[in-house]
This record gives sequence, structure tokens and C-alpha cells, in this order.
Amino acid sequence: MNFKKKIPFNRPFIVGRELYYISQAVAGGHLSGDGPFTRRCQKWLEENFRLRKVLLTHSCTAALEMAALLCNIGPGDEVVMPAYTFVSTANAFVLRGARIRFIDIRPDTLNLDERQLEEVIRAAPRGAVKAVVPVHYAGVACAMAEIREIADYFRIRVIEDAAQAVNATYKDSFLGSLGDLAAYSFHETKNFISGEGGALVINDPELIERAEIIREKGTDRNKFFRGEVDKYSWVDLGSSYLPSELVAAFLFAQLEAAERITRTRMKIFNRYLAAFAPLAERGLVSLPVIPADCQHNAHMFYLLVNTGAERDRLLAHLKAAGIHAVFHYVPLHLSRMGQRHGAGAAQSEPGSLPHTEALSSRVLRLPCYFELTEADQERVIAAVADFF
Ligand SMILES: Cc1ncc(COP(=O)(O)O)c(C=O)c1O
Repeated sequence: MNFKKKIPFNRPFIVGRELYYISQAVAGGHLSGDGPFTRRCQKWLEENFRLRKVLLTHSCTAALEMAALLCNIGPGDEVVMPAYTFVSTANAFVLRGARIRFIDIRPDTLNLDERQLEEVIRAAPRGAVKAVVPVHYAGVACAMAEIREIADYFRIRVIEDAAQAVNATYKDSFLGSLGDLAAYSFHETKNFISGEGGALVINDPELIERAEIIREKGTDRNKFFRGEVDKYSWVDLGSSYLPSELVAAFLFAQLEAAERITRTRMKIFNRYLAAFAPLAERGLVSLPVIPADCQHNAHMFYLLVNTGAERDRLLAHLKAAGIHAVFHYVPLHLSRMGQRHGAGAAQSEPGSLPHTEALSSRVLRLPCYFELTEADQERVIAAVADFF
């Protein structure tokens, strides 16, 4: 029997002013979307991450769905993305009737392999690929310069899935500022949280007006509030993608504390990195790789063990020690929906994306959250060391 307290994989947290700001929102009498706290969050993100335009959404999933609408993705279109990602990356485009052309990942960063991008686009019917979605896994940037160059050559959109990458940079630019569009997540498992939450970043100025319309149920309500039209009406496709002020108030407190949150997470990440270096030297695990031009945000700490069977044994070992570690993702190209909506028959065969399949079976994510104490982290480190 283990009487030690359990260490969760994640624990949502507050840093200080969340409840105070929520009470201010209540006192202010504006609880629906696009009130003062939504504006403060958007301005904060635009100024601090040097972004053209930010619209808060109720999730990253919602922001990706808006991106698919904005890019006019429809039946007959294809969208390129890694199969090693969360389902929302693909779902947003499948909802519009597109097929997904999955691409393998790089074995070092587990990000989309830009060296295969041109060939993957050329394998699709001419002109079918309309967008590529780089997913910045674990807050480490994809090779955006190379991706942008290929996308420009084929005249396709770049939509960053920056769910995990808020406050990370690539060549000194913040992730989210490099695509035509980008999607952030403020889900409770992310670095800055509001329970559920997200944002759409619009870097192409030509898409801003329509993004506002899509987010407001297909109406030009924002223009009406700015006094640009004398009534608002239904002018385009849309849905309700804006969060309530309660959510924005919570998020604003987190954004104000972004530096402190990041510093704390970096400490946790670096402590793991140093502790497992000896295991890596003995070839027992591989550690996250951060390319020189990337500054990550300590979103996630993962280990790559040598086999899938060993990963499962290590998970069970940690569970027995009261430690909740997790794995992900079931490769999308082999999932039921991936098989149905993937493009290119060869992709549905096991073995078609070898790095995705091998690495997803070997990855193990350790507890990494703002309130993880040094003592609890030492317990995690000791339990991993004990396993090996
Ligand atoms: C890569 C990626 N994309 C999209 C999402 C979806 O984010 P949300 O839960 O905010 O919709 C996640 C969430 O885990 C993610 O990791």
C-alpha cells in the first residue's frame, strides 16, 4: 500500500488576481463577450507577442475552426499537417469537408518534417492542397522559414497550431506571428489558462474583417459597435466563437503573470533535464531537443524511452508510485476518422509514417505544472531513476 499523496499529471492554478478580476467583471455589468477584459487580453497578446490582430475564442479548437472558414476550405481541398497531433488540428478542416494529407515528423523535435513538405504537396492532385498546419509541439517551433518558403511557392496558407506554444519564439519572433493565421490554447493544461480558452491570431490584414464577422455569428456586429454601419445583420457564415468576460477576466490575471509562470515552468523543465542527463548518456532515454533558433516555453517535459513496451512498463511503475504520467497521441492517420478523411490511400497503412508511429509509442510525459513542488518533482525523478 502506498500512503504517499498522489502527484497528478496537471493541476490548474491561480496566480493572484483571477477572482478579483472576475468580481470586477461582475460589478461592471458586462458578462457576455467582447467587454473590457476581452479587449485587455487581446491588447496584451498583440503588444507582448508583436501580433497584428488577436481575437479571443472559447478554445484553440474554435480558433482552428475559424481559420478553416477564413481560408474557405471546402470539399475537394486538402490540408497538410502532422499525424502526430491533437484531433482538433484535423477536425477543424474535416468539418469543412476537406481531406487531410498527413506528413511525418522529425525525430528530433517531433515537429512536422519540413524536408518532406514539398514532396507531400506534390503527391496531392494539382492545386488541391490549400493550407499547411505546422504544430509547434511542446512549445518548440517548427522550421518556419523553410515551411513559409514552400507554402509561398505553392501559394498555400500557413496556419500555425500554436496551442502549446504561447510565449515561445523562433528566430526572435513569437510563435503565432509567423503564419497567415495562428491558434492559441488557454485550456487548463496549458501554460496560461482560463479553464477552456483560446485565441485566433490574424497576421494577414485582409482576413481581419471577416474573422470578426465569423466570430460574431456571421454578423457585422463589431462594425455596428464601432459606428461603421447603422445596423448589423447576417452577412456571412459564422458561429459564436467568443468567450464570456468571466473567462477573459481570469485569463487576464494569468497573462499579467506570464513572466513569473514561465520562469517557474522553466525551472521545472531544466531540473528534469539535468536529472535525466545521466540516463540519456547511458542511452536509456532521449531528452527533448531544442534547436538553436528556438526558445521554448517549458510547456511539456517528455522522455523518449527505447520501446513502446518499455514506455508502458514505466507508466505502470510510476502509477504504482502514485505518479500520473501520460502518453499521446494515437497517430491520426491510423485512427478511424483519419482513415476515413485522410488523403492518399497509402497513408492509412501502418508503417506509412514511420517516425510518427515509432515515436508516439515511445513518448512519456511527466507532471509539469506551475504548482509542482520541488519535493514532488524529486519524487518523480527518483521513481524514473528507480525504474532504470
Ligand atoms: C496541438 C493542439 N492543438 C489543438 C488543441 C486544442 O486546444 P483546445 O483544448 O483549447 O481546444 C490542443 C489541446 O491540447 C493541442 O495540444
